[in-house]
Amino acid sequence: MASLTIRKLDETVKTYLRLRSAGNGRSLEEEVRVILGDLIQGRPESSAARAPSVAAPDAQSRAPRRAHDEARVTLIIGGGVAAYKALDLIRRLKERSIHVRCVLTRAAQQFVTPLSASALSNERAYTDLFDPSSEFDAGHIRLGRDCDLIVVAPATADLMAKMAQGHADDLASAILLAANRPILLAPAMNPLMWNNAATRRNTAQLARDGVAMIGPNAGEMAEAHEAGVGRMAEPLEIAAAVEKLLRPPPPRPLAGKHVLITAGPTHEPIDPVRYIANRSSGKQGFAIATAAQAAGADVTLISGPVDLDDPAGVRVRHVESAREMLAQVEASLPVDIAIFAAAVADWRVAQAGEQKLKKTSAGMPPLQLVENPDILATISKLREKRPPLVIGFAAETEHLIANAKAKLARKGCDWIVANDVSPATGVMGGDRNTVHLLIRDGGAISVDSWPVMTKEQVATELVGRIAETLSVKTPEKTS
Ligand code: CTP
Repeated sequence: MASLTIRKLDETVKTYLRLRSAGNGRSLEEEVRVILGDLIQGRPESSAARAPSVAAPDAQSRAPRRAHDEARVTLIIGGGVAAYKALDLIRRLKERSIHVRCVLTRAAQQFVTPLSASALSNERAYTDLFDPSSEFDAGHIRLGRDCDLIVVAPATADLMAKMAQGHADDLASAILLAANRPILLAPAMNPLMWNNAATRRNTAQLARDGVAMIGPNAGEMAEAHEAGVGRMAEPLEIAAAVEKLLRPPPPRPLAGKHVLITAGPTHEPIDPVRYIANRSSGKQGFAIATAAQAAGADVTLISGPVDLDDPAGVRVRHVESAREMLAQVEASLPVDIAIFAAAVADWRVAQAGEQKLKKTSAGMPPLQLVENPDILATISKLREKRPPLVIGFAAETEHLIANAKAKLARKGCDWIVANDVSPATGVMGGDRNTVHLLIRDGGAISVDSWPVMTKEQVATELVGRIAETLSVKTPEKTS
């Protein structure tokens, strides 16, 4: 068998894979396996659901994607009194922009008609295994696969027994047997049927087979004077369960981690109205804070003066000067990861004027500059409370990699994100960034050059790399 070495793949492909695997909370190898598996099974969309929003433009434009609002459900309506609620379920799913295609068992048609199901779903409703007028060559195969999820509501005791045994003597059971999509059952039956040993066995078997279930609930039965567990879950509950299966919450690879980020410029006062500053917009640091928060981290963002809104869900401390920034950083320790994206002013005026400096006949007032504390170097060299992963930025206008390597060594951090900030690049204040990630690995330094990206993409990629590194360092426990 041939083997595939991810390291040797084209850089653009690697970046795409990294973003995508981080978004899906998988390892790179797992992601490749899922992509290949999906391609072979003819369902490229499912694994692309959380493909990176951008990254490798070529790969992106080729990847077939389907928006959330095109999620499709095959709804099998079983024969029970609760079938009338399935009609409401169709509405609830459509309200959520889910496309519904209905299948009715013969018994279901005693309670609701195919006409009402098709009117509500805006789609033809299916009833027969051998239907010469079906547009599908083998309806039971296509109806079980040409969707993202199969929902059975109500799932009767009989339908569940057939599923557990693998019967396929009508359209509904044939679809369920031929399906390669997740299945959600909403059982509904008399409490005695639900508690019967045969139903218990079938339910347990279906759970082992990976079939999801919602309900049944306890309550009054359609039969007079009967109550107990057996009522079908309400349409809203089923719709919520469907949404959860179709649109699972994004993975949170940094859950439980505290990430500290500095961003923006610092303002160093000359007098009460004037200051020394630089052109940093803070966009890159803010984008990293947003990406880390989305990845589940507890984020503290210490920002110099910027014209940006505070990112939602992030603890933001606003500061002016380098010394204030250092004080806030120190007060935020300990953290698991510290990312220093701020463009800290290297110097400040030794004695800032208490009053506005006035023009005098003596000419320009002398401005004595003194060096500011180096926040990154200070934190990198801490004995106690040094964050396990310290990442700096290197803004350079010449000899990018050489200067960044020297900075990595001088500052004592673990990674450096190097970027060319010469005016022609438009990085300062702009929306795009071309970066190189330098990683200290023992005595050696590796350099990974990324294609030009938006600052949001750089942030997502960086957070993905952090998550990947942490997952290698702390492998998940298997029982
Ligand atoms: N940095 C810092 N405190 C400072 C200066 C820089 O924390 N007083 C951090 C920045 O946030 C960045 C890294 O150090 O992560 C490099 O910043 P940069 O401005 O590129 O380098 P300098 O250290 O200022 O060196 P030089 O100006 O000589 O390039």
